[in-house]
Amino acid sequence: TTVEWEAASYDMGGHDTYMHKEIHEQADAVDRVLRGRIDDRFSTVHLGGLNLDAREARQIRRVKILGCGTSYHAGMIGAQMIEELARIPADAEPASEFRYRNAVVDPDTLYVAVSQSGETYDVLAAVQELKRKGARVLGVVNVVGSAIAREADGGIYVHAGPEVCVVSTKCFTNTTVAFALLALHLGRTRDLSVRDGKRIIEGLRKLPGQISEIMKQEEEIKKLALQYAEARSMLFIGRVRGYPVAREASLKLKEVSYIHAEAYPASELKHGPLALIEPALPTVAIVPDDDLLEKNRAALEEIKARSGRILAVAHQDQEKADQTLIVPKNEDELDPILMGIPLQLLAYHTALALGRDIDKPRNLAKSVTVE
Ligand code: G6P
Repeated sequence: TTVEWEAASYDMGGHDTYMHKEIHEQADAVDRVLRGRIDDRFSTVHLGGLNLDAREARQIRRVKILGCGTSYHAGMIGAQMIEELARIPADAEPASEFRYRNAVVDPDTLYVAVSQSGETYDVLAAVQELKRKGARVLGVVNVVGSAIAREADGGIYVHAGPEVCVVSTKCFTNTTVAFALLALHLGRTRDLSVRDGKRIIEGLRKLPGQISEIMKQEEEIKKLALQYAEARSMLFIGRVRGYPVAREASLKLKEVSYIHAEAYPASELKHGPLALIEPALPTVAIVPDDDLLEKNRAALEEIKARSGRILAVAHQDQEKADQTLIVPKNEDELDPILMGIPLQLLAYHTALALGRDIDKPRNLAKSVTVE
């Protein structure tokens, strides 16, 4: 299946920037990545381009996900979903690092290359090296027919539609949803129960509506952005499912606003970053309502005790935070798909307040097709 990218898709559609337009397109984009793929009868999904039969799927011993920038962060979320739903050991690594470390290529590992453009040189070179060594490589790609899509043995198109802003938003979200589909599919060839499959499918179906809910908070986020635009540096923290969300939110802010931002696992605060906490260094904390809620609350307390300012992104109001952006709750495993979305809006409005060149940040390119 291919999606026709009509010229109309490149129209600004009344938005001042592509970034703003693309953030607001996410509910529709997620609808597209799900369309035609859900199999209610067996509580699984059909991924036509995977080229992986059930027997092969069961032989996978590990999953290694490779990508750069935002795609790498989407891969981190994907790896956690695959471990949680399919119970296959999985991890993500920057393709650029993987390429240069003479990694051991294992025939029982499924390699997954993630790329919006499908043209990023470091990812393509990693795929080619893997294929040369006989590995099986899937692509999770947005641009249909791109180099990485052609080179891979199979894969999933994320159907985000054209993304023009250098800074990736809707493609990130769609890629995380594509990984949820892959995790569900692999899970249902193994030990994920029909009941859990159903639970995840119901969660997936809720996503577009929940994204629309998040968009309604834009005015509130815009006000916050005016405050945060004054920061010289910001800390982003999250634990386990929240950590890649913090990484991506931190990347978004620095790319588009040029404010220095650093992401840390909340669990590592006491091993260094606590030394930085003072009123001038705001912290953004990802606080999902899952089994780690109390641990995350304790981290907020530690920051507050040192007079740090906190913006929480959470499913319920966080008493220790100065402000909380409430995100609709989904299934625990799918929460990371939604929790970064308000922070895309925060990055956008911070950059706007600072007068940045939002669609084309200095020194960056949409796709890096050279070494
Ligand atoms: C560049 C872009 C990023 C993007 C990365 C990977 O650095 O500025 O926004 O995440 O490349 O691009 P890809 O097309 O492979 O996802």
